[in-house]
Amino acid sequence: MKIGILGSGNIGGALGRTWAAAGHVVMFSGSRDQAKLEGLAQQAGHGASWGTLEEAAAFGEVVLLALLWPQVLEALPRLVPVLEGKILIDASNPLTPDFVHLAIGHTDSGGETVARQLPGVRVVKAYNSVGANIIGSASKQFGNVTAPTLFFCGDDAGAKQTVAELIAASGFEPFDVGALSTARFLEPLEQLWVEILKSGIQQEFILSLLRR
Ligand SMILES: NC(=O)c1ccc[n+]([C@@H]2O[C@H](COP(=O)([O-])OP(=O)(O)OC[C@H]3O[C@@H](n4cnc5c(N)ncnc54)[C@H](OP(=O)(O)O)[C@@H]3O)[C@@H](O)[C@H]2O)c1
Repeated sequence: MKIGILGSGNIGGALGRTWAAAGHVVMFSGSRDQAKLEGLAQQAGHGASWGTLEEAAAFGEVVLLALLWPQVLEALPRLVPVLEGKILIDASNPLTPDFVHLAIGHTDSGGETVARQLPGVRVVKAYNSVGANIIGSASKQFGNVTAPTLFFCGDDAGAKQTVAELIAASGFEPFDVGALSTARFLEPLEQLWVEILKSGIQQEFILSLLRR
């Protein structure tokens, strides 16, 4: 599958490399540093390339949104025509500029805001509350669990099926938590993740579901 990566930082870099290793063809974009994009494409291999946000959005059958919130709001309006009909995985969190609070929450979410800005785009929220270090790690093992659950939500069943396959390809068990409005609960998980980190534990943890 051809995947456009909007935002090639911690999350975009880790997911792009992971999906390329699983056989997908990725195009990185969104860095201010061209050499960084070139390096990422080289590391990822499997035909990976780099370009502008518009080029990556046009390239992908599926497009990953992994920009910081101010850049999400700035970039989306000009990407509307090129993204129409595509699947967009929204991994972003609508954080305030100081990264301390959610700018949107309780009765709305970043995921829904993104979907409203992109009419006709099949938005699926995923990967927003898992550390980039875990995504980029070859092993996803935690105790006896080899593929921890990764939550996703959206309103388009076909898009969710495709995203579930990409989640599985990245080493997680996809776990569908419902409609896109459930992003109202997934986005605060990122804040919980930050609070847990403040306890002094290392980043080698995941917010996941255990069943028995
Ligand atoms: N980090 C995580 O573990 C994690 C986990 C889950 C979800 N998320 C979410 O995923 C999104 C991306 O997070 P990230 O940690 O991957 O972000 P990041 O590494 O800081 O950067 C993401 C992208 O934005 C660009 N960028 C950074 N600062 C910029 C600025 N001031 N102006 C213009 N472009 C800028 C970066 O390019 P440059 O090379 O130019 O810096 C990069 O392409 C966020 O919405 C975050 O909440 C992050």
